[in-house]
Amino acid sequence: MEHEDPAEAFLGPRARRLRVVELLQLAAGSGLAAYAVWALLLQPGFRGVPLRLQVPYVGASARQVEHVLLLLRGRPGKTVDLGSGDGRIVLAAHRCGLRPAVGYELNPWLVRLARLHAWRAGCAGRVHYYRQDLWKVSLKDCYNVSVFLAPSVLPLLEDKLRAELPPGARVVAGRFPLPTWQPVAVAGEGQDCVWAYDIPGAGFAVSSSGVPSKATPGLGSPPVPGTPTIQAGWTQ
Ligand SMILES: C[S@@+](CC[C@H](N)C(=O)[O-])C[C@H]1O[C@@H](n2cnc3c(N)ncnc32)[C@H](O)[C@@H]1O
Repeated sequence: MEHEDPAEAFLGPRARRLRVVELLQLAAGSGLAAYAVWALLLQPGFRGVPLRLQVPYVGASARQVEHVLLLLRGRPGKTVDLGSGDGRIVLAAHRCGLRPAVGYELNPWLVRLARLHAWRAGCAGRVHYYRQDLWKVSLKDCYNVSVFLAPSVLPLLEDKLRAELPPGARVVAGRFPLPTWQPVAVAGEGQDCVWAYDIPGAGFAVSSSGVPSKATPGLGSPPVPGTPTIQAGWTQ
């Protein structure tokens, strides 16, 4: 039999077997290393969370963050990012005047990273990151909610949002739309698409304490055509 690779021919069957074993060891080693990174850095805090509810960390792109801010621009009341990762959406929201801005995240490393980013941005103590399970957070005082989660958890999330959000609240979902709700506005396209949903009810104005107080036109009514990248569609 002819060998195309002269080195192969030189090695002989025993040495070739050894090379295969080495390759297998390398593959097993890399797999183990990847698992260790996943278990130690990416998944701590998720013990006890059912597998179908575990959403891995993937940070929002700059475009996605921009679209979230576009759909929440000028809105009063508390803003929260459910599963806030390294805190980029919360920090950007705070910088845009959406206050208070709060992130809930289960992974303690990401919570620390988010706080570090806030500190480096000169916003330490003014944005808030909590290591908390988003399924256990009460949303009754949240008027602006962003979610960048996996499709598998969105049906359950719809139930939670519907049960807990106050009238006039807005939810913005990135990457995947909420499965059964009708968006009132959409910003961006493809991967960068972000959908906005309003909880029907009276709108609100900002009181001096920053708490939404009285009814105003605007919320709960069709969105005013704004920038060209928002496609508004009112369905309720
Ligand atoms: C796709 S990432 C989005 C991160 C961030 N919102 C962003 O867009 O940059 C989803 C995040 O949700 C977090 N997460 C998943 N399940 C969670 C839970 N039950 N409670 C809190 N955070 C959770 C993950 O750790 C991950 O950081």
